[in-house]
Amino acid sequence: MKLYLLLIASLCFLTYISCDGCIQCNSKTEPRCATDPLSLFTKNCSESIGGSECFVRVLDGVTIRGCAKDLTNATKAACNNELECQICTYTEGCNRQMFPSSRAQCLQCSGNSTSSPCASQVYDHASICPIYKLGDLCYIRNSNRTADGSFQRGCLSTAQANKQCIKDGNCFTCTGRGCNFLQANDTLIPLARDSSAQLMLSMSLLLMGLLTAWML
Ligand SMILES: *[C@@H]1O[C@H](CO)[C@@H](O)[C@H](O)[C@H]1NC(C)=O
Ligand SMILES: *[C@@H]1O[C@H](CO)[C@@H](O)[C@H](O)[C@H]1NC(C)=O
Ligand SMILES: *[C@@H]1O[C@H](CO)[C@@H](O)[C@H](O)[C@H]1NC(C)=O
Ligand SMILES: *[C@@H]1O[C@H](CO)[C@@H](O)[C@H](O)[C@H]1NC(C)=O
Ligand SMILES: *[C@@H]1O[C@H](CO)[C@@H](O)[C@H](O)[C@H]1NC(C)=O
Repeated sequence: MKLYLLLIASLCFLTYISCDGCIQCNSKTEPRCATDPLSLFTKNCSESIGGSECFVRVLDGVTIRGCAKDLTNATKAACNNELECQICTYTEGCNRQMFPSSRAQCLQCSGNSTSSPCASQVYDHASICPIYKLGDLCYIRNSNRTADGSFQRGCLSTAQANKQCIKDGNCFTCTGRGCNFLQANDTLIPLARDSSAQLMLSMSLLLMGLLTAWML
């Protein structure tokens, strides 16, 4: 993370690209908007005069960042809550930070239950959950099969968006940054019997998580 800041700072210095705008993104189209904002560059706000005001907000699980002047008056007036919406100047940096700062972070990976790195690596670092949900948990899901995706670690909000880990007793869940680090053979992990119909979607989300983890 520090490396990115250094990199951005030196790019600003070397190439005189604008570094006083806001990060402008939506996690629906740019997952890094939620999971890795420091890797995104800022853009000028249109017709910005003086110091630009930026915002960051979460809405229905989606993370949105941009120029405060693009918010409606009502949204802007209500944008004063460190859990939902915040306005700051670029130098204060809220627009670049993980938001909300209490956002869940989990180990995120997918593989087979037998010998995949996901099943065996328990010291991987946690990364920011792509969907924002207050009180989100981390999970481990093991359907004890050899197929790819039969062993997963991740954020419960992501699993549930894919219709997994909804009924109790299919997944191990826990609270706290990176708490889903149990060994694959830990008896606390139940055998998942819920369907994995939307596995492809879930795997692509997990891959994005992996990519993020790798880039950090
Ligand atoms: C962005 O704003 C800065 C300072 O206001 C200006 O110097 C720069 O040319 C602008 N860049 C673009 C691409 O509009
Ligand atoms: C929004 O607020 C600005 C300045 O406070 C005002 O000029 C503008 O008319 C307002 N727009 C609406 C739609 O109320
Ligand atoms: C499980 O996945 C690993 C790599 O992730 C692979 O090397 C291994 O062959 C797979 N095992 C089975 C039984 O598919
Ligand atoms: C998973 O499968 C293996 C071999 O097929 C078996 O030995 C093991 O008991 C199973 N684990 C669970 C939790 O069902
Ligand atoms: C779980 O697996 C680890 C290594 O993979 C092993 O050392 C440990 O004894 C196993 N625990 C159980 C309860 O089988």
